[in-house]
Amino acid sequence: MTTTITLTGAGGQIGYALLFRIAAGDMLGPDEKVRLRLLEIPQGLGAAEGAALELQDGAFGLLEHVEVTDDPAVGFDGCDLALLVGARPRGPGMERGDLLAANAGIFGPQGAAIAAHASSDVRVTVVGNPANTNALIAAAAADGIPAERFTALTRLDENRARAQLAQTLAVPVDTIRRVPIWGNHSATQFPDVSHATVAGEPVAKALEAIVGDVPTWLDETFIPRVAKRGAEIIRVRGSSSVASAANATIEHVRDWVHGTDDWTSAGVVSHGEYGVPAGLISSFPVRSIDGEWQIVEGLEISEWAQARIDASVAELVEEREAVRALGML
Ligand code: NAI
Repeated sequence: MTTTITLTGAGGQIGYALLFRIAAGDMLGPDEKVRLRLLEIPQGLGAAEGAALELQDGAFGLLEHVEVTDDPAVGFDGCDLALLVGARPRGPGMERGDLLAANAGIFGPQGAAIAAHASSDVRVTVVGNPANTNALIAAAAADGIPAERFTALTRLDENRARAQLAQTLAVPVDTIRRVPIWGNHSATQFPDVSHATVAGEPVAKALEAIVGDVPTWLDETFIPRVAKRGAEIIRVRGSSSVASAANATIEHVRDWVHGTDDWTSAGVVSHGEYGVPAGLISSFPVRSIDGEWQIVEGLEISEWAQARIDASVAELVEEREAVRALGML
């Protein structure tokens, strides 16, 4: 079988890190051929075309075809998986409202183009920031496509949280499970260890033995470290996260398509779960079953955790209101 994948921002950094892994079969597996559509703005076409030449030189057996375009109608034609990575970064002196408006001007038309040209069962993953609200805008513009098909990437945040726990506990990262991210992909996000396990045992007990006062460690060390990891990478590396963001995107799509054996995190549309207003694209603990994300329901949420969730969700509400006030939603 062949999957048609549209990547926006294909000439950018994350695009470059993603393309070769997709072509190598890391996202969909060794049996699925891929057709790539690289969608850029005119200034990015050269870089995307260069990447396309290198894809050719990779001689990937799974790669059937690559097309580079700046026309969304061509870019999204027959698209099964849309990876919306291209976005407008915050420029000097740009207010949050300006940023939201600039991105609404990108993600609204892209949502409409997806509805008009993509496969009816298209799956959309928004990476470009502000990812949750960009996904909301795209979903709102995509007449006829269920909002459940639009997601925002928060898997990188979850991976960062699991990695921090693994490092603190000095255990292999794959022994750490169930560390959902709640809310917005921003500094208000809530990485939640309340249900987390290490090698099947509650993480809280293991943490206590190492950090002592767990609530203080969570408030003062763990949560800020995870939430501000993006800024830490920029400070140390001199550039934002690229390969880790591409890796998380690969994992998000792979799990969505092929299913999960446990919880993970994704920004998905709320139907009112855990007090998150319906219609928002918020990060939740999710499972992927039969190709659909399902929010893990019925978890016991402490007052402290609910306050953290509510604070991040309040930011999502503000972003939605700001875009509505601009008449763009
Ligand atoms: P970049 O600046 O290297 O690349 C962005 C590319 O998007 C550029 O080539 C640009 O020409 C293109 N682009 C801009 N508008 C476009 C449009 N309307 N259609 C198609 N392409 C368009 O940026 P990078 O490092 O690749 O990051 C991309 C986005 O991912 C940023 O918004 C960044 O904040 C976000 N990000 C999200 C993460 C997450 O976990 N959700 C993690 C890391 C980054």
